[in-house]
Amino acid sequence: MSSAKSESERLLRQISEIAASPMERARAMPPAIYTNQEIHDLEQMRIFRKSWICIGRADALSEPGDYLTFTISEQPIVAISQRDGTVRAFANVCLHRMMVLLSGEGNCRRIVCPYHAWTYDIDGRLIGAPQMNRTEGFNARDNALPELRCEIWRGWVYVSLDPDVAPVSDLLRELEPVVDRYRMENYVQVATQDHVWDTNWKLLTENFMESYHLPIAHRATVGAWFPVDDTGFPDQRHSHFTYETFKKNKDATYGLAHANNDVLEGEWRRTSVMPTIFPTHMFVLAPDHLWYLTLMPKGTGQVHVRFGAALAPEVLAGLDDPEAFLRDTIGFFDKVNDEDRFVVEGIYKGARAPLSTGGPLSWMEREIHDFICYLSGALGG
Ligand code: FES
Ligand SMILES: [Fe+2]
Repeated sequence: MSSAKSESERLLRQISEIAASPMERARAMPPAIYTNQEIHDLEQMRIFRKSWICIGRADALSEPGDYLTFTISEQPIVAISQRDGTVRAFANVCLHRMMVLLSGEGNCRRIVCPYHAWTYDIDGRLIGAPQMNRTEGFNARDNALPELRCEIWRGWVYVSLDPDVAPVSDLLRELEPVVDRYRMENYVQVATQDHVWDTNWKLLTENFMESYHLPIAHRATVGAWFPVDDTGFPDQRHSHFTYETFKKNKDATYGLAHANNDVLEGEWRRTSVMPTIFPTHMFVLAPDHLWYLTLMPKGTGQVHVRFGAALAPEVLAGLDDPEAFLRDTIGFFDKVNDEDRFVVEGIYKGARAPLSTGGPLSWMEREIHDFICYLSGALGG
């Protein structure tokens, strides 16, 4: 047995022990789980090629030809809105000599390869290929981009490389009663950003999952708005997601129901739900806005981060100066992101240090324990 292999097996044993321990005795994962190449390869095989990956919001795909790209486990993909209003996903790689076709997001009438102009309909069929008339046996119309599973759930676009994965709504059924009171499918996206951060994806996921750091790392922004004792967790552990709920105090600039919100009642008007849908779709769902991220590891030490923000429709409708409001709001969340970037890049440096070790968890890090249980199961630890 190679030593790399025995090291990853030892790490999997360690995380299965943490998963099996009660929350009161749970510890953070060992540092090498974030830096070990073998663990990274296992994650790609057993998690990212097998799961639903959220790539963004469905309201970015409302017109035929609207598209959104992402890369799942080295596979460039594109989700594209069809003439019948459905959304389909395809491998975003040309059938000629494998050029990546589309990038970013936008709208197109056809997909034209930037290399030699092979041209595809938005339904993935090849409809044109210049100069191929002398190539024996070639008929453009025999070819189409490979199609992937694509589903919309509550306004989110999910794509999977696994043709046999269960439908998103089956996996998230128990989350629906928790989030449906907000009607998040109606929230209107106002910003998206893509970044690459120098950290391991699991450190960023764990950072998102705990509000223990909010009063400290975010004291200049959202940190002052949380009575931490009001943090709540699900009664039982779920296989495909976890979440916490928290309340905002009445001074919060963001996170309280708008006066014209007539669906949320009582405490729910100041309560947010913060789900993590395994492996990498996370969002803060507040009465007035939502804020999300979805991730894809780029090796052990970098992660592609896609952020987005959306507003409840009554918030947008009630704005006197939408441009100024959006500028302020996006600027505010940029600051929150910078605060998170500082800590998640810092803990990655810490995780690489030879004297580091994972310490005990607080009650507020319950979701991290849920995540360790999920990882241990998914990686076969
Ligand atoms: S690689 Fe796309 S047309 Fe040649
Ligand atoms: Fe944070």
